[in-house]
Amino acid sequence: MKKVRIGIIGVGGMGQGHAETMKKIEEAELVAVCDCNENRVKEVAQKHGVECFVDYRKLIDSGIAEAIIVATPHYFHPEISIYAMEHGLHVLSEKPISVTVSQADKMVEASKKTGKVFSVMYQMRNKGVFIVAKDLIEKGHLGEIQRTLLINPWYRSQAYYDSGSWRATWKGEGGGVLINQAPHMIDIFTMLAGLPRKFQAKVRTRLHNIEVEDEVSVLLEYENGAWGYYYTCTNEVPCIPYLEIAGDKGKITLYGDTFKFFSTSVPISEFTVKNESMWASPETKEEQLNIPETDASHGSIIRNFCRAITDGEPLVAPGVEGLKSVEFINACLLSGLRNKPVETPVNRDEYDNFIREMIEKSKGKKTVKTQIQTDPNIKK
Ligand SMILES: NC(=O)c1ccc[n+]([C@@H]2O[C@H](COP(=O)([O-])OP(=O)(O)OC[C@H]3O[C@@H](n4cnc5c(N)ncnc54)[C@H](O)[C@@H]3O)[C@@H](O)[C@H]2O)c1
Repeated sequence: MKKVRIGIIGVGGMGQGHAETMKKIEEAELVAVCDCNENRVKEVAQKHGVECFVDYRKLIDSGIAEAIIVATPHYFHPEISIYAMEHGLHVLSEKPISVTVSQADKMVEASKKTGKVFSVMYQMRNKGVFIVAKDLIEKGHLGEIQRTLLINPWYRSQAYYDSGSWRATWKGEGGGVLINQAPHMIDIFTMLAGLPRKFQAKVRTRLHNIEVEDEVSVLLEYENGAWGYYYTCTNEVPCIPYLEIAGDKGKITLYGDTFKFFSTSVPISEFTVKNESMWASPETKEEQLNIPETDASHGSIIRNFCRAITDGEPLVAPGVEGLKSVEFINACLLSGLRNKPVETPVNRDEYDNFIREMIEKSKGKKTVKTQIQTDPNIKK
């Protein structure tokens, strides 16, 4: 089997996790690592017996790797990814692909211009429930979508936020829960229900000593007039996601791992005008579903990325779709912090000015107790 020669750029918690994961992916071969922290990268390179770089350009220009995984803090994803694609390498970027929509546009443009494979680490797309939900919606079993809901609480300690100077700062990260923890489920939400057209958000910092948001509440409106609601935070336990998508012909609900699909006997819009009985309502039935056992680990996305390079396998998480979650995040932050409704596509210049202003106001961090550890709760 042809192995894809991969370099990892950014070998902190996630990058080191990917280096370990790659040992189990027979389609991939780790050939080099890069990190601006010289001691860290030397240690990781020695552990894996691979080449070591402190400047990502040198790794890319060396010709050792034909593809890279970018696992630096988000702000660097576009610069590194674009340089790599323009120098002939395929790119798998960590999520989110960028902090701003204008930068995401540039990444998408680079992938189109160069024809290089460009993927994003949205491994949850491989979960059985989301594969089934996507299929139900694409085949029209829900009918036209009328309402959506996503409540996606997270928890992070102050020690987590203090573990790196870039974390939870406008300058280092470009946002809080929205840009860091929330992107996976926002990706699923927009993959299933599409990107809302209008956002009216409330955004605040409630529990933590950080300058960015740890709580977000948003009213949504879709192109067809459907309404939705979105909530996220890093202040709550247990962290059980709650997702609902209600259509004219059916509804899906997901609470934790419990997924249900209800079909209606007659579309609600039709029943409402045709039925003459005062207290009647459309009959609904919970359908039995076969949820496939799947691999939704980081490894599954790395494998798919390699197969896309060697055999043209369709990408599970194409980079271009990484743009949607960035639109969603930017719309929430702009709406919440400017206290006004925001429409998508987000005005690129307005968002660039907004983020520049937030960076200028950024106070950085007084307390940093560095810890580098891959999240033990996530599947590799
Ligand atoms: N897909 C997932 O499930 C998942 C989970 C955790 C983190 N992530 C993403 O991974 C990325 C990294 O997060 P982390 O928790 O590993 O952070 P981290 O701070 O542990 O590691 C980041 C590393 O990048 C290095 N770095 C910074 N700038 C660099 C540059 N210009 N060139 C080379 N190296 C550079 C740092 O020195 C550090 O070692 C983030 O974008 C985050 O959102 C994804």
